[in-house]
Amino acid sequence: MKRVLVLYYSQSGQLRDVIDSITTPLQDSGAIECDCRAIKPVHPYPYPWPFYRFFDAFPEAVNLDGCDVESIELAKEYDLIILGYTSWFLSPSIPVTGFLKSAQARALFKGKPVVTVIACRDMWLIAQEKMKGMLKDLGACLLDNVVLTDQGESIYTFVTTPRWLLTGKKEAFWGFPQAGIASEEIAAASRFGERLVLALGDDRERGYTPLLSKLNAVNVNGKLIASERIAHRSFLIWSRLIKRAGAPGSRGRNLVITVYVVFLLSMIITVVPLNILLRKCLYPFRKDAIDKAVADYEKPSGH
Ligand SMILES: Cc1cc2nc3c(=O)[nH]c(=O)nc-3n(C[C@H](O)[C@H](O)[C@H](O)COP(=O)(O)O)c2cc1C
Repeated sequence: MKRVLVLYYSQSGQLRDVIDSITTPLQDSGAIECDCRAIKPVHPYPYPWPFYRFFDAFPEAVNLDGCDVESIELAKEYDLIILGYTSWFLSPSIPVTGFLKSAQARALFKGKPVVTVIACRDMWLIAQEKMKGMLKDLGACLLDNVVLTDQGESIYTFVTTPRWLLTGKKEAFWGFPQAGIASEEIAAASRFGERLVLALGDDRERGYTPLLSKLNAVNVNGKLIASERIAHRSFLIWSRLIKRAGAPGSRGRNLVITVYVVFLLSMIITVVPLNILLRKCLYPFRKDAIDKAVADYEKPSGH
C-alpha cells in the first residue's frame, strides 16, 4: 500500500476544493493511503481580510519569514508528498512558509518526492521559484507542479480577487466574472489524481522524472513574466521600508502601508497598462528569450 501525505493551507476553502478534486481518485483507488492535513498557523489569519491587516502581511510574505504553525500529527513514512499552497504577494503563503521552516518539515521532506499544487489569482512564478529554493534546502525532490488560476483576464482579476479577499464577495458584478477559479477547472483537476494513481502503481515516484507531463498542468503567460519580475523587485524595496517603520499593526507601519497602497494603485492605473502595451509591441523581437523563459517556468511538468 502506497502512502501519500497531502499538506495545504486554504482560507476560503478554494485550494482545499482543488486538493479534494486531485486526491479523490487516490482515495477511491483502494491502493493508496492518503493522509490529508491542513497547515494551521498558531495565530490564525483573518478571512475576509481587514484592509490594513491584508497589506500588513506583505513584508513577512515577501521575505519568507513564515509564522509559527501547529505541529501536524503524522504517524508514518510517506512515498509522496502533495503540497498545496496559495501565492501571497508573489511568495508562498506565510503559513506554508512557516511549516517548511519548521523542524517537523526538515524531518518529513528529506529525500521525499514532492508535487506542488498552486491555486492563485495568476501571479505565481516567483512564488514557485522561492518554493523550489525551500524544497531544495529541505533535501526534497520536486517532481511536478500543478497550477490553477482565477477565471477571467488579468485586468478583471485585478478587481475581482482583491474584492473577494477583502469582502468575501465572490459573485459576478458589473460585467466582471465571478472571483476565483472556475468550478469546471477545479473538477477537471481530478485528472492529476488519476495519473498519480497509475504512476504510484508503477513505482514511478521513485524516479526523478515528472509524473504529470502532457496534462496541461501549467500554463505560463509569457507576457506576464516581465510584470512579475518588476513587481517583485519593487516588493523587495517596499517590504524593507514597511518593516523598518514598525512592528506589525503599529501606527508607523500603517502609515507607510498607506503610502505604499497609493503608490501601488497609481502603478496599476498607469505603469501596468503601459507595460502590457510595451510588452505586446516588443514581443516579436524578444520571442525566443520569452519562449525560453516560459519553458523554464513551466518545468518540471510542462503542459
Ligand atoms: C495576502 C494575500 C496576498 C495574495 N497575493 C497574491 C499574489 O501575489 N498572486 C496571486 O496570484 N494571488 C494572490 N493572492 C490570492 C491567493 O493566491 C488565493 O488565490 C486566494 O487567497 C484564495 O485562496 P484560499 O484557498 O486560501 O482561499 C493573495 C491572497 C492573499 C490573502
